[in-house]
Amino acid sequence: MDLKDMQALYLKRQSCRSFSDMIVPEEVIAEICRTALLAPSATNAQPWRLIAVMGEKKDEIVKYLQRLGMNKFASKASALVAVAEGKSGGMMKLGSVFKENEFVRNDLGILTAHLVLAAEAAGVGSCILGWRDEEKLRAALGLGKDTLIPVVVALGYPEEAYPVREKKRKPLEEVFTLLK
Ligand SMILES: Cc1cc2nc3c(=O)[nH]c(=O)nc-3n(C[C@H](O)[C@H](O)[C@H](O)COP(=O)(O)O)c2cc1C
Repeated sequence: MDLKDMQALYLKRQSCRSFSDMIVPEEVIAEICRTALLAPSATNAQPWRLIAVMGEKKDEIVKYLQRLGMNKFASKASALVAVAEGKSGGMMKLGSVFKENEFVRNDLGILTAHLVLAAEAAGVGSCILGWRDEEKLRAALGLGKDTLIPVVVALGYPEEAYPVREKKRKPLEEVFTLLK
């Protein structure tokens, strides 16, 4: 895979807000997560866990992602994957060089990016959901107090003829500088 292929994948990935009735098989969800977990993290601490929720449990937690009429479409996702803080391993355990937890949010963001791109490569649509009631989510997922859940990712097959939107991004000159 070269940069052109990567660009094609990045352009193809878009937030999917209309899922079809076809359910993504559990094994495909697991494989997408397995792939995303190859993401890098500070000191390779991998301070995360992915909790994929399907079936009735999904119907239970989806209400914690909907606020002011937002994210209704998430009800039709095949799976909701909570990107959550987990135990830090590796050098992070030593904790002397880096302030504890300093990089965790960053690592979870990187994992999220890997997750949505892996989903796209598997032909599965995704939408990152930042609207959430973290407290209720924690309780429903059996996670401890203060465990971070910065986002939940909705996964599912896009509805047939779901339009490919043009990417609206800031012009390169505004956000890219090359200094010599
Ligand atoms: C941290 C984060 C939180 C987001 N939360 C929501 C959300 O709650 N609901 C939603 O529909 N989209 C959400 N999005 C999707 C963004 O709106 C979307 O990525 C952005 O508009 C760019 O569009 P694209 O993903 O189609 O390229 C979120 C994205 C990120 C990165």
